[in-house]
Amino acid sequence: MMEITNDEINKFVEAVKEQSSYDFSDYSEKSFRRRIEKLLNDNNCDVEKLISKLSKDSAFLNKIVKDITVNTTEMFRDPKMWHQLRYQLLPSFQNKEKIRIWHAGCSTGEELYSMLILLNEMGLFERTEVVGTDLNEDVLKVAKNGQYRYKFNMVYIENFDQVMKENPNNGEKYDLDYEKYFIIDKNRDLLKMNQFLLDKPTFQTHDLVSGKHELGEPFDLIICRNVLIYFNNNLQNKVFELFFKSLVPGGHLVIGVHESILGPLSNKFSKMAQVYQKK
Ligand SMILES: C[S@@+](CC[C@H](N)C(=O)[O-])C[C@H]1O[C@@H](n2cnc3c(N)ncnc32)[C@H](O)[C@@H]1O
Repeated sequence: MMEITNDEINKFVEAVKEQSSYDFSDYSEKSFRRRIEKLLNDNNCDVEKLISKLSKDSAFLNKIVKDITVNTTEMFRDPKMWHQLRYQLLPSFQNKEKIRIWHAGCSTGEELYSMLILLNEMGLFERTEVVGTDLNEDVLKVAKNGQYRYKFNMVYIENFDQVMKENPNNGEKYDLDYEKYFIIDKNRDLLKMNQFLLDKPTFQTHDLVSGKHELGEPFDLIICRNVLIYFNNNLQNKVFELFFKSLVPGGHLVIGVHESILGPLSNKFSKMAQVYQKK
């Protein structure tokens, strides 16, 4: 793998910033470096050539920006967090007339559809508005389509069973047919969300670096998991500030298992496992 210097990383970030609206200055160095090194390998070139190519070719620049962001996701990823939502947080929403949820950095949508399935089982589906946003418009196209590979993603079914068919608090088991929510076509290697789920969410491109809300009324719940790990402390603080502003008083924020709110915003939230509440 080709290794690059800090100076080269800075030059690359500056070039992207000059040529586009994207600013990667505050992405965390370690993972960003790995992504660029992979890009150089894939394109068989050095940083200078990469910069020269993206300066001349906007389609290439867009492709590079998309290649930099990590899009890995799953249905019901981290089942324990979903148990916490199901048995602790979402029951407290039962008396709300309208619920607004924002999935920030939703990637290809599996997390958002998992939420819709859970809301439907809890009788909260009709009164909820769900917005999914991401920087990368390609992943949002996949999200809107709600169609995934089946064989590659068998873990989706394991997670579904764990979250939707078992209560870890008392060991109870529930009957639930996944076909209520998605169909699996093994011959075509497809897992496709049912139409009523596809019709529900709104998807929108949104760059968390902008620090701008742009998404209408404040939210009762913001889910932003496995996005902040790619940002340095500076940018994380800026994004926590944005989330604080975008939540209703007492609203909740869920971040990833490897993420936590440190720094100036930490005393503006109280924490219960993976769920933070705006004070
Ligand atoms: C690893 S995925 C996480 C997906 C999902 N939240 C989960 O936990 O399974 C990270 C997503 O964050 C998005 N992302 C990265 N930088 C972003 C930014 N500045 N603004 C919005 N989304 C961003 C990426 O495009 C990617 O889809």
